[in-house]
Amino acid sequence: MGRYWILMLSVLLFSCGEPRTSKKTRLKIVDHLELEHTFLQVEELVTGMDVPWDLEFGQDGFLWVTEQAGKVYRIDQETGEKYLVLHIKDVFKKRTTGLLGITVHPDFARHPFVFLNYTVKRDSSIFSRLMKYTYAHHVLTKPELLLEINGNTGHNGSRVKISPDGKLIWATGDAHDNKNAQDLKCLNGKVLRLNIDGSIPADNPYPGSYVWALGFRNIQGLTYSTGGKLYTSEHGDAIEDEVNLIEPGRNYGWSNIEGMHDLPEEKWFAQQWKTIEPLRSWTPVIAPSGLDYYGSNEIPEWHNSLLMTTLKGQSLRMLKLDDKGGEITDEWIYFDKRYGRLRDVCVGNDGAVFISTSNRDWNPGPGFPLKGDDRILKISVSRALKPDALRGHIPVKPALVDGKALYTQYCASCHKEDGKGVEGIFPALVNSTIVTGRATTLIHTVLKGKSGSAQQMPAFGFLPDAELAAVLNYIRNSWGNKGMEIQKEQINQKR
Ligand code: HEC
Repeated sequence: MGRYWILMLSVLLFSCGEPRTSKKTRLKIVDHLELEHTFLQVEELVTGMDVPWDLEFGQDGFLWVTEQAGKVYRIDQETGEKYLVLHIKDVFKKRTTGLLGITVHPDFARHPFVFLNYTVKRDSSIFSRLMKYTYAHHVLTKPELLLEINGNTGHNGSRVKISPDGKLIWATGDAHDNKNAQDLKCLNGKVLRLNIDGSIPADNPYPGSYVWALGFRNIQGLTYSTGGKLYTSEHGDAIEDEVNLIEPGRNYGWSNIEGMHDLPEEKWFAQQWKTIEPLRSWTPVIAPSGLDYYGSNEIPEWHNSLLMTTLKGQSLRMLKLDDKGGEITDEWIYFDKRYGRLRDVCVGNDGAVFISTSNRDWNPGPGFPLKGDDRILKISVSRALKPDALRGHIPVKPALVDGKALYTQYCASCHKEDGKGVEGIFPALVNSTIVTGRATTLIHTVLKGKSGSAQQMPAFGFLPDAELAAVLNYIRNSWGNKGMEIQKEQINQKR
């Protein structure tokens, strides 16, 4: 009899179904990561997405995500269930344009606003627009156009954030025009600051202007630290990707300065305009993308750091900050080439970290997309006891192959920092067809050296392949030179 009742009860329970909120599907663990003291797990939160461009953790406890083709989702961080809240139909998506940045108002209960950036095409012109939406009845409604600026097929930026003082920050790209970033009347190549109704704040550094800081090429990451400092990540040209600490009213140099302010004409410009140098620059380029500040103690090794995803570099990087947030003191690379291009990173309210792949975009690496791409992965502390046999992915230190630094060390004494050489003695590398021409000729020259009439060029065969490739790519793409990238394998073949 008792058994019968239990059976009845369970039938009843199952037929009614559990309430939706308690339905916890287990996420699939796909990887582990070993830090010095902390063992992390990587779970697949969502699969089958189409270029999840921007991840933003809302104070409503949900992960908000834009897909480049025009959809906005709200995602449950425990189950990965996703809810479509908006589908923008007039998005112009081609290569790097489309629906890009999103931010959710931090005081969401009082201000249920979501801000989005996307590209549109009218006739033959491209524009980049900043929109405000209101979240109501599980969808984004009431679209309001706050600001529209010129766009282009590339270099549109752009990320958005709400500052600690409740203003809207918009990081734009130079729209492929080298004049834009230094032109204060133009809103491209800038960090802009707006009131959330789209008007110009009275306390902006240039009165009557949205401009908060200038001199940027193509900003791809934007974040505030808990201390209220604003950081950006940015794509350099063929060399020198950057991470910057943004100060109001200041100039960051592009397109007169690229990366560090170290060439003679760059130094001159830096002095004139009191420009600010990047906290760090990367040559060869890694194509930095999303940036988020990690302030939690949940993963102690990452406390007070910037987490940054890279596209070309195909990794997650941790840039440890000093106490004041004014310097990067350490750098680690995670998941090197493991998940392909990584577009964005975002920190959840309990210290978990979310990253999104970008293997269905215009430029996937060989072997990608993988099954399940694009994915959003959740990285959190593993609560399970670590079995000895279970190894995690081991982080790596970035290789110190900085083409520019190697050039300074090995070549600048003769060919000079600006590549112009010394007339009649050391040939200029600027405008040299040997430098930008056939890779094999250039590799041969530098590997074997050259004995000219007056002076000798030493042989550099002692440098490892990766370092030689870095220095050659630096001279091929500096001072106005443009040349195809040389792979380290090509150098190995010529030895
Ligand atoms: C000690 C001085 C010296 C140093 C150091 C030096 N070079 Fe040279 N380099 C020369 C001289 C001299 C020539 C011209 C040789 C000749 O007469 O053909 C030359 C020629 C070249 C050329 C051919 C340019 C052209 O248009 O003819 C390239 C490319 C080059 N150097 C690259 C490098 C690189 C890269 C480094 C550093 C890794 C380097 N050199 C370091 C002295 C130097």
